Amino acid sequence: MSKRNIEELLETLTIDEKIGQLVQLDVNFFNYDCDLKTGTPRDIGIKEDVIKYTGSILNFYGAKGLKQIQDEYLKQSNKKIPLLFMADIINGFKTAFPIPLGQGATFNPRLIEESANVAAREAAVSGLHVTFSPMVDLVRDARWGRVMESNGEDSYLNSLYAKAIVQGYRQDLNPYKTIASCVKHFAGYGAPTAGREYNTVELSNRTLREMYLPSYKAAVDAGCDLVMTSFNTIDGIPVTGNEVLMKNILREEWGFEGVTISDHSAIRELIDHGVASDGKEAAKLSIDAMVDIDMMTSVYSNNLKVLLDENKISESQIDNAVRRVLQLKEKLGLFENPYRGADEELEKEYILCDEHLKIARKVVNESCVLLKNENVLPISKDKKIALIGPYANNSSLSGMWAFSSDDKDVVTVKNGFLNKVSEDNLTVTQGCKMLDDNGVFEAFGRVYEDKDNTLEREECMLEDVRKVVLDCDVVVLALGEHILQSGEGGSRGNLKISQSQINLLKYVKTFNKPTVVLLFNGRPLALNEVLENCDSLLECWFPGTEGGNGIADIVFGDTNPSGRLTMSFPYDVGQCPISYNEFNTGRPENSGMRRFTSVYLDMPNEPLFEFGYGLSYTEFRYSNISIDKETMSDYDKIIASVEVENVGSVPGYETVQLYIQDLIGSVVRPKKELKGFEKVYLFPGETKKIEFEINESMLRFYNKDMNFVSEAGEFKIYIGNSSKCSENIVFTLEK
Ligand code: BGC
Repeated sequence: MSKRNIEELLETLTIDEKIGQLVQLDVNFFNYDCDLKTGTPRDIGIKEDVIKYTGSILNFYGAKGLKQIQDEYLKQSNKKIPLLFMADIINGFKTAFPIPLGQGATFNPRLIEESANVAAREAAVSGLHVTFSPMVDLVRDARWGRVMESNGEDSYLNSLYAKAIVQGYRQDLNPYKTIASCVKHFAGYGAPTAGREYNTVELSNRTLREMYLPSYKAAVDAGCDLVMTSFNTIDGIPVTGNEVLMKNILREEWGFEGVTISDHSAIRELIDHGVASDGKEAAKLSIDAMVDIDMMTSVYSNNLKVLLDENKISESQIDNAVRRVLQLKEKLGLFENPYRGADEELEKEYILCDEHLKIARKVVNESCVLLKNENVLPISKDKKIALIGPYANNSSLSGMWAFSSDDKDVVTVKNGFLNKVSEDNLTVTQGCKMLDDNGVFEAFGRVYEDKDNTLEREECMLEDVRKVVLDCDVVVLALGEHILQSGEGGSRGNLKISQSQINLLKYVKTFNKPTVVLLFNGRPLALNEVLENCDSLLECWFPGTEGGNGIADIVFGDTNPSGRLTMSFPYDVGQCPISYNEFNTGRPENSGMRRFTSVYLDMPNEPLFEFGYGLSYTEFRYSNISIDKETMSDYDKIIASVEVENVGSVPGYETVQLYIQDLIGSVVRPKKELKGFEKVYLFPGETKKIEFEINESMLRFYNKDMNFVSEAGEFKIYIGNSSKCSENIVFTLEK
């Protein structure tokens, strides 16, 4: 259908039909039973006759069911406008990839683009049209459960991933291989006060623009079709009714012409925030902010018409929103083929196919971060191994959001090991319960219930541990958080693994066997006790379907670990929020008497593991950091270079990182900012010269008048293997 036809169609629509296009409901409203519920389960007060006009459906997939729903819907629809199906495909569809925080650690946007394309292919043939991804919220506070959904704390890196993921979803225009994407949560949702879910966000305009907005902008520039509002306030105004963000910045400044959608129930939540006294006011605030679709509330369906009749909004406001929704449907080809990619045969062919699993395994290989290694890893395949812990033989490895994938398809750590070593050399036991209390967690149809909570059971588990440890050469402990401890609604005030697991670790330590910990978690944890009690520590995140295989590749040395942290691991929870690119203070550490400098009395300022950190089975030596000239102008560039040599005995990837510091600015500048990186593969003895181009646009920031410019002066270039690198060289920007 051409653009003109959309206009014609729009003219024929009744006001109820128009408003229907702006409503999104889950499939339970369509006489289809589905357990999956995101958001809070309230009776949302949808009137029966709204359902037949509804424009889109939330979180439902599967070619067969979806065609059936589309068919039935279209049969009763006067204007034959197909439904849009949207869902949260966060880290893969059926082939689950590592959680996004783990994906970030690959420092490999091209690989992450490929994984987004895999997700798109599987989702498209299952009938989906839109994914609520990429989630590009910048995160600095490990207490917030949703840090697992983000690529990390750096705005530059997150922007590269945002672009890569959007491109991955829409790589070509083939309806069987692509889906539209919806960047979220616009904006600033990653900075809730004290890391508490849904809490107030306080960001200065400067920080918002400089650190938080670029990744959303990168997604929009890459051609993202939708933008989702965030739950939080910015400058006291909830984003879902915030004209400055949704209209002035997103639409006018950035020129975004696609569809905007509220987060789940966020329009109604304007009432709970206390900026609207009822649904009518909430609807007005949101439609005025150009929020097109109301996800899972009755606020638009019950109030837009009333507002129109009272002349409080104009019909063109509604028309504009409806036009954008219809244009998206047209762009996706739904008017020609309302099933689009939905195809039962292709579902069988694409889903979990070898090619997809291979990419997933590669992402696991590159996402795991070796945090400590006192010569225990890699383990030789002929050693006798005791594999112990709540994650030793556990298929719940895909993280909270992977509700479209199935745990039964997951390769557990045990099975991954068995694909490499003989059964005689591996004994597996759970060792302890996952969590300490009897707590029951529930989310997205998943429940955690502690079934191991009796004293006898605990004693019996420990006795098994004793037996297997006595009889082994090396212990591998698979420990971590429960998947429901992170993700939405997963804020924590304590960043440790459970005491039961710490006790297990300490007990194992008494046997003095070489001990490796594999850690499964959705956020940076406070790892002091874990580190003290093990020889080697591999951060595995929630690695997804190919988890066990990808981890076994690393544990047994078939793959050299290369992941680098993209979020600081705090020394303790009291350091949160923390990020490498903090600002200078007037009283820097070591600038005088310790007491009156900017330090903690009881812990270091530095995180335990910094942004960019990660070990390898080999070592890399950096030398000859240099620049081709010492001054540059706005129209010029400087080439900074370094030589990197693999001085160890196995090949491996090194992530060479470039940081820049603006020494004097009209406003305080970060101590370091990532401005480039290159991931290089080097054989033992091999040296490569890595070059980075530095130009004026990389030096811009919001100056004291809020203009995005660079300022003349001196800059320090750091090149190294993490944000802690200290070797530097100075150049001058002349104006
Ligand atoms: C989450 C979103 C998600 C939406 C739909 C909300 O609770 O915040 O990230 O896309 O639910 O499932």
